[in-house]
Amino acid sequence: MKQFLRLIATVCVAGLVCGFTAPKDDVEKRVEKLLAKMTLEEKIGQMNQLSYSREQPMVSAAKEGKVGSILNLVDPAVINRIQRAAVEESRLGIPVLFSRDVIHGFKTIFPIPLGLAASFDPAMVEAGARVAAEEATAAGIRWTFSPMLDIARDPRWGRVAEGSGEDPYLDSRMAEAMVRGYQTDNLADPTAMAACVKHFVGYGAAEGGRDYNSTNIPPTLMHNVYLPPFEAAVKAGAQTAMTSFNDNDGIPATGNRYMLRDVLRESWGFDGFVVTDWNSAGEMVVHGFAEDNKDAGRIALNAGVDMDMTTGAFINYIPELIEEGKVKMEDVDNAVRNILRVKFRLGLFENPYVEEGLTEKEFYAPDHLEIAKKSAEESVILLQNNNNVLPLKGVKRLVVAGPLADAPYDQLGTWIFDGDQKHTVTPLAALRDMYGKDVEIIYEPGVKYVRSNDTADIPAAVAATKSADAVVVFVGEEARLSGEAHSLANIDLLGAQSQLLAELKATGKPVVAVVMAGRPMTIGKDLANCDAMLYSFHPGTMGGPAIADLLFGKAVPSGKTPMSFLRVVGQVPLYYNHNMGGRPTNRPIRLLADLPVEQNQTSVGGTSNYLDVEHTPLFPFGYGLSYTTFEYSNIKLDKEVYGMNDVIRVEFDLANTGSYDATEVAQLYTRDLVGSVARPVRELKKFDRITLKAGETKHIVFEVPVSELAFYNSELVKAVEPGKFQLWVAGDSNSGKPLSFEVK
Ligand code: BGC
Repeated sequence: MKQFLRLIATVCVAGLVCGFTAPKDDVEKRVEKLLAKMTLEEKIGQMNQLSYSREQPMVSAAKEGKVGSILNLVDPAVINRIQRAAVEESRLGIPVLFSRDVIHGFKTIFPIPLGLAASFDPAMVEAGARVAAEEATAAGIRWTFSPMLDIARDPRWGRVAEGSGEDPYLDSRMAEAMVRGYQTDNLADPTAMAACVKHFVGYGAAEGGRDYNSTNIPPTLMHNVYLPPFEAAVKAGAQTAMTSFNDNDGIPATGNRYMLRDVLRESWGFDGFVVTDWNSAGEMVVHGFAEDNKDAGRIALNAGVDMDMTTGAFINYIPELIEEGKVKMEDVDNAVRNILRVKFRLGLFENPYVEEGLTEKEFYAPDHLEIAKKSAEESVILLQNNNNVLPLKGVKRLVVAGPLADAPYDQLGTWIFDGDQKHTVTPLAALRDMYGKDVEIIYEPGVKYVRSNDTADIPAAVAATKSADAVVVFVGEEARLSGEAHSLANIDLLGAQSQLLAELKATGKPVVAVVMAGRPMTIGKDLANCDAMLYSFHPGTMGGPAIADLLFGKAVPSGKTPMSFLRVVGQVPLYYNHNMGGRPTNRPIRLLADLPVEQNQTSVGGTSNYLDVEHTPLFPFGYGLSYTTFEYSNIKLDKEVYGMNDVIRVEFDLANTGSYDATEVAQLYTRDLVGSVARPVRELKKFDRITLKAGETKHIVFEVPVSELAFYNSELVKAVEPGKFQLWVAGDSNSGKPLSFEVK
């Protein structure tokens, strides 16, 4: 309804006819008609994206047809003034597309994408993306640089916060959900925002976990793991794609013709447009791949880039490059077609202006905050709950401690250009507000901020805890410790946070740790210093109320780890869907302390392990506890042998055997036992959130088409290879007993 009213309102303001999504042919005709009228200058203007600086230069660029898109402007009045210059004063009246990094909400901030992934709830993620689009479009933004689909197997990389973690299947489902939420099925709706899949491609495999670093992803891994989420998003209708900063095997993504032309356009049929990342055309010079910006423009256009973000490589050099025969007019025309197509689909020609005055109604609307709270609730993972300390029961005096108990900015996480911390509800505020009537809340932070080594306030927190029934300690990372250009080599809790936990634990009172962070941190040693641990990837505006309800059992944790948690950082990369290798470790190993002095050199019986630490993760992918317990039973396949066109049908009973109504994320994994290339030990193929009342059992059916067992072989041909398989249905990637089946 809201969308419909907005549509009518905007149309009335613009005094124009309704612009519902036009049939495909119409759009193509309009594109061709307009293109035929365009000069080369006007074409390269469309291919140019500028970052907003001051109004006057932007108005001039719009009037002269020298800009196709502007990023980083969110003031509706200024947007309209620039748009008027483009629409009413430029020769052809082509509207500007205004864009922004709306990554996990615009004003109402949702959990960081890694947290959203932990919910395993695509429907919720879609609803959140819809809210983000409603708020951002109210400010005039019709294009967001989201979703980020970079698979990440290294938590040192700061941008793990922005993605869905290590699994291509989970990432794909999240990708589709975000695309649907942003774009809806009617792009011309004024509340629809074009999605941009990024960073195409491989960016998350940065060597050493250092942002912007080179990647070396071999072709089969690229096609089986890194590309699928992008393909899923494109198939869901994503309108734009962004090239990444990294070079893979020496080829910078912005100059990767194979990826942009053969894979994205030819193989997947993508008909939107490709934008570079910020100056990633220009950075090809630094990579040592282009001689100068002009050469970079040549490489990018020939590779298949349509729009240049901020380098100026297209607008400044394409005329010369055409004259010199180094780029083809046909490629310029195609780039412009791709851009205009998206602008037409968005209804920008009918509806170029943003209605001013919408923002007050939209920003932080009560239903937006409600979805943000629910998302935060579902994103929290219960990692430990000794003696069922949680939910808190009979607590009359509660100490709230830790540097993140009342950190309204930091709990929002990375990439929140527009989210205002004034609207954040912190855990401290929420606990006081929602539970303060019955429970005395004593706030003693102990440590003032995450990186502080100052222990002077710890005794006060300890003293308060001694006279209380329990303590909840909010530790983790500041927002600025993850995200772009914020990688870490040490992902332990920083400053005096671990010491705070240890000293509180020594009081003997129940200690609940709540970790708020942008990545899975190495919290192994901290587990010993708390009874329960809730892990909350930066939970956003409504993180406080969500956590408060989880602590007191009004809500029950249901999040699962979207990335493996490491014991020590030296284990990277560690991910569940690894290959078996020839010498897997499957028995207890002799750790360092057991090694005899002057032991003879021998590799006999050696397996793939470390001498100083277990080879397994602290918590595997897909892991998370509940206040209740779940039991999987009667897991049955409908057949032993399947044909290529069959659908595998798995039935099972899921029982809630505890005393809380709760939701379990049931997961289905398969393994292809013998392949023409060795296959991962497990791969997620399906999941669902299943809600059960205490004591309830449900009979569940999961279906997986045999075609989804296909993978790319070493010739890069995707096919299902006949043979033996295993299948698990379980609550995480490390549990369950395998069933066997065959594909013929
Ligand atoms: C980031 C992109 C972002 C772009 C525009 C770049 O630095 O890598 O993810 O969309 O800036 O702000």
